[in-house]
Amino acid sequence: MSIRGVHLDIENLIHRYTPKSPLTFDGVRIEAKPGESLVIIGRSGCGKSTLLHIIAGLLKASGGKLRLDNEEVKGPSSRWVMMFQAPHLFPWMTVERNVGVGLHFAGWSKDKLRDRVAEAISLVSLDDYAQNNVQDLSGGQQQRVALARSLVMEPEMLLLDEPFSALDAFTRAALQRDVRSISKELGFNLVMVTHDIDEAVLMADRALVMAGSPGKIMHDISVDLPDPRNREDPEVQKMRRYLMDTFEEAVALQKGNGGTQTKVGSLSRMNGISEPAG
Ligand SMILES: Nc1ncnc2c1ncn2[C@@H]1O[C@H](COP(=O)(O)OP(=O)(O)OP(=O)(O)O)[C@@H](O)[C@H]1O
Ligand SMILES: [Mg+2]
Repeated sequence: MSIRGVHLDIENLIHRYTPKSPLTFDGVRIEAKPGESLVIIGRSGCGKSTLLHIIAGLLKASGGKLRLDNEEVKGPSSRWVMMFQAPHLFPWMTVERNVGVGLHFAGWSKDKLRDRVAEAISLVSLDDYAQNNVQDLSGGQQQRVALARSLVMEPEMLLLDEPFSALDAFTRAALQRDVRSISKELGFNLVMVTHDIDEAVLMADRALVMAGSPGKIMHDISVDLPDPRNREDPEVQKMRRYLMDTFEEAVALQKGNGGTQTKVGSLSRMNGISEPAG
C-alpha cells in the first residue's frame, strides 16, 4: 500500500449551526504537514466533533478556509476517511468482505481486491480472523476491522472521533499504539479528537487544546517524544502533566476573558506554566 500525507491548512474557520444559534467555534487556524498526527483535546461541547466533520467535508463551515494540498474541501472524499466511536460494520459479513466493501463498490477486480484486503487485514493484525463473521468478534477487533476498511482506501488523512472510548483499557492501549505506528509506517495524517489526555500524549505529534464557547484553539503543543511511547516513561508522564496543566489553565482563562488563539506555548509562558524540560 502506498499512502502519502496531505498538507492541511485551515484559516479563520467559523461555524454556527443555524443563523440564529450561537457560534460553535470561531477563528480556528490549524496547519499540519503531510504525515503529521494532530490530537484535539477539549471539554464536551466545545465543538471538536463539529470541527472534525467540517474537515471531513461532511458539514459545511459558516466561514473561513479549509484546504488540503491547496485544494478547497467541498465535500466527502475517499482521500480522507472518518472513523467513529462505533465501528458501523455489516454484521452478517465476514471481516474480509467488510474490509473490501469500499473497493467492491469502486469496481476493483477480484484479484486486486483480495490482495489489498489481505494487506490491510494484516496491518491491523487480524489475519487469523479474515473469514470470521464480524458479529463474532470483540469490540476491539471490530474497531480493527473498521480501521482496515479505512486503510484499504489508502486515505491521505484519517479522522478519528473518540474511536477508542468504548473499549477497555488494554484494548484501547493496543489500538492507540497500532494506529500511530501504522500512520507513521504508511505516512498518512491523523486528526483525532479525544477527551483523554493520555491518549493525546501517546498518539500526537501535536496536541491542540480547544476551549471556550465559542470554541477556540487555545494552545498548539509539540509532543516531541520518541516511539514507541510507554505510559510509565517519565518523559511521557511529564508531558501528560504539562498538557493537563495547560488544558486546565486554558479552560480557566476562557471562563475569565473569552480568550484568543495563541501560537505554540506562548499562552502557557504568559501564565507561568512550566514547560517540560528537554
Ligand atoms: N446538529 C446540531 N445542531 C445544532 N447544534 C449542534 C448540533 N450538533 C452539535 N451542536 C452543538 O454544537 C456544540 C458543539 O458540539 P460538538 O458535538 O461539536 O462538541 P464536542 O466538543 O464534540 O463535544 P463532545 O466532547 O461531548 O463530543 C454543542 O453546543 C452542541 O450542542
Ligand atoms: Mg464530540
